[in-house]
Amino acid sequence: MEQTLSIIKPDAIERNLAEEIKNFFKKNNLNIKDSKKIHITKEEASEFYKVHQSKPFYNDLCAYLSSGPIIVMILEGENAVLSNRKLMGATNPKDADENTIRKMYGISIDKNSVHGSDSVDNAKKEIEFFFKN
Ligand code: CMP
Repeated sequence: MEQTLSIIKPDAIERNLAEEIKNFFKKNNLNIKDSKKIHITKEEASEFYKVHQSKPFYNDLCAYLSSGPIIVMILEGENAVLSNRKLMGATNPKDADENTIRKMYGISIDKNSVHGSDSVDNAKKEIEFFFKN
């Protein structure tokens, strides 16, 4: 069984969408192995997203992820990384397919409701970041 990291971002928490999003994962064969609601600092967000540090949107991205509570989860299932990415849909909600989380709930490329690891390697690192300290 593969694992991946999922984050329900502040825009979705604010609109009380967490339970719907969790149920969507469960319905689509991703079990929630662990889950916690946290509010991280901008420094922690900067560390988490440091792969994007050269991007023009980096500062806003880190400010956003630390702007309110988030839910971090370990999802487990067959091909969990890819499966989660398919369920999330494209980064920009306006490009996302029907019946994906970002299409159903995303507001903009920043407020796109969820984050998911993009590879098995990064999934391990991201799970470690939130759950192994
Ligand atoms: P996420 O999957 O959390 O990974 C990095 C985030 O940066 C991404 O979702 C988007 O919410 C955000 N972002 C903001 N602007 C851009 C952009 N131009 N391209 C990609 N991601 C962006």
